[in-house]
Amino acid sequence: MSVTLNEQLGAELDALREARTYKHFLTLESPQGPLVRMAGRGEVVVLSSNNYLGLAAHPEVVRAGIEGLERYGAGTASVRFICGTFEPHHELERALADISGTEAALTYVSCWNANEAAIPSLTDDTTVILTDALNHASLIDAIRLSRPAKKVIYPHSDMTALRDGLDAAPREARKLIVTDGVFSMEGDLAKLPEIVELARAFGAVVIVDDSHGVGVLGETGRGTVEHFGLLGEVDVITGTLGKALGGAAGGYVAASEEVCDLLAQRSRPQLFSNALPPTVACSALRAIEVMLEQPELVARLRENTRVFRTMLREAGYAPLDGEAAIIPIIVGETAEAIALSQRLLDEGVFVTGFGFPVVPEGTARVRVQMSAALEPEHLARAIEAFRRVRPE
Ligand SMILES: Cc1ncc(COP(=O)(O)O)c(C=O)c1O
Repeated sequence: MSVTLNEQLGAELDALREARTYKHFLTLESPQGPLVRMAGRGEVVVLSSNNYLGLAAHPEVVRAGIEGLERYGAGTASVRFICGTFEPHHELERALADISGTEAALTYVSCWNANEAAIPSLTDDTTVILTDALNHASLIDAIRLSRPAKKVIYPHSDMTALRDGLDAAPREARKLIVTDGVFSMEGDLAKLPEIVELARAFGAVVIVDDSHGVGVLGETGRGTVEHFGLLGEVDVITGTLGKALGGAAGGYVAASEEVCDLLAQRSRPQLFSNALPPTVACSALRAIEVMLEQPELVARLRENTRVFRTMLREAGYAPLDGEAAIIPIIVGETAEAIALSQRLLDEGVFVTGFGFPVVPEGTARVRVQMSAALEPEHLARAIEAFRRVRPE
């Protein structure tokens, strides 16, 4: 082991501790749900998970995972083209294409992988990528890997800047507009109708990462694209299975047959990394079915979000507006956000604080996330804690 490296890293870690931005992993002793048992803390209300529909421990989702494990074992033990694909991969991909309004879908072991697969594979040496400044880190890294002819980072949701970027691109260039559907730190939605219109006008391709939209937005939970009535109009949708759709892990690209086929042939995370475990393929498939069979879950999530935002305002907070299930409360400095989340945890409520570099300096926040599984008594318990810890 290199002593020098360890000393250098140790100093870096000390600096994080001094700045009070060092992150601690909290250990859960029960399944993800509205309440969890946390080691050393006992039972806490969860307002920080992406378990939007409460399906992470849903009995049918868990049962489907167990059956998948029993029937297919732990995994493919290799990459799909080398060692085979299980039936549930095909079934899940059909279901994902169906909810996305696309011809086909292809799964990956995470949405991070799906983004790093899709964007570089769709970039050629003429490509201009236009990307929202607040896009998720996985999109930012995917674009870094792509090495396009040109990259235009447009200010958050600034459609004039997007139009200017498209206008300045050479006519023959391939143009990719890359955006989150729901922005994960702000909770606001991409202006998809305008983006799709601009894409049509300039012959561009639209790529939407809807990780925080699927299961949350639209009457049937199909996401931001359904919310705006644009099913079938967006070229490429990427998403995660690690949030509303069962909460395990896994991601996908939903697009045309040609895009998915090309990704199966070419994308490096598909060619050089194992398939999604069949446990997850089966549990995620059941989660999608439950979402479609029980649209009341999406409705309850929406209602919980509306109610809790009002409760926060009445308790003296100023949450950001929005239609998704993310409710950010800006507090300013990173250490303050971490301290507020710590005080909330002391009061039995689990909400994470986010600061620089995840969000811009001076805009640190606690991010409340709603779930359909939260009952009125959980919301009441949570808001009492928020009242008790409210900074002056
Ligand atoms: C918008 C967005 N895209 C991608 C990801 C990564 O998803 P996964 O956990 O499946 O890699 C996340 C997770 O935080 C996300 O919020």
